[in-house]
Amino acid sequence: MEFSQVITSRRAVNFFDTTKDVPDSLLKQAIDMAAKTPSSFNLQPWSLMALRNKEDKLRLQKLAMGQPKVSEAPVTLIVLADRSGWTDDNPFVERNFQEMIKAGTAKEESRDWFGKARKKLYGQSKESELAFACKNTGFFAMALMLAAKSLGLDTHPMDGFDHEGVREEFHIPDQYWIPVLIAVGYFDESKERAPAKWRKTADEILVTFE
Ligand SMILES: Cc1cc2nc3c(=O)[nH]c(=O)nc-3n(C[C@H](O)[C@H](O)[C@H](O)COP(=O)(O)O)c2cc1C
Repeated sequence: MEFSQVITSRRAVNFFDTTKDVPDSLLKQAIDMAAKTPSSFNLQPWSLMALRNKEDKLRLQKLAMGQPKVSEAPVTLIVLADRSGWTDDNPFVERNFQEMIKAGTAKEESRDWFGKARKKLYGQSKESELAFACKNTGFFAMALMLAAKSLGLDTHPMDGFDHEGVREEFHIPDQYWIPVLIAVGYFDESKERAPAKWRKTADEILVTFE
């Protein structure tokens, strides 16, 4: 599928075909594509919980304003943004540093510089930590929806849920923020597609400040 077709045909679909499953291999293909998302220092502070079991999805649906698509989609993802994804003791931070050394883009002597830079940028307040986690994970979530579309899958992002309720129900550690849930599956073709929504134009998006 051409990229322009992917981006224009992606819609937040409300109705999923409950008879059509998403094979694990296809979901993983979409995730691997989305993993190409850029991130600050390549820290990739995102994770996903994939709910397939009907009971699990119903538990989530209850905490997501009862939205039927949460349980009707074959897979619903809980997207996790790791607020500690920049700290020295996060295993992916060390992995990332080792990969940079292997690639020749960093030297062991620069470890201290990287640590200080991360702390300065992301560790100054709870707000900066949350912004770090959510901005990077937001890019990932968008890439995932487009990757899914390119593979013939439909998605629906949702932030209409009880954040702390979901954290507790699914035993999600405190370091994670949950920016969004994403239902993944196939549009139920027996339903009518909602007309495409309006969008701001480039001229409305571009701003200047005096
Ligand atoms: C972060 C985010 C949260 C959203 N939360 C919900 C939600 O809880 N329930 C819902 O029905 N739609 C939700 N939406 C879907 C939007 O309403 C939808 O994307 C928007 O109206 C544009 O429609 P389109 O995606 O079909 O182009 C959400 C979208 C985003 C990006």
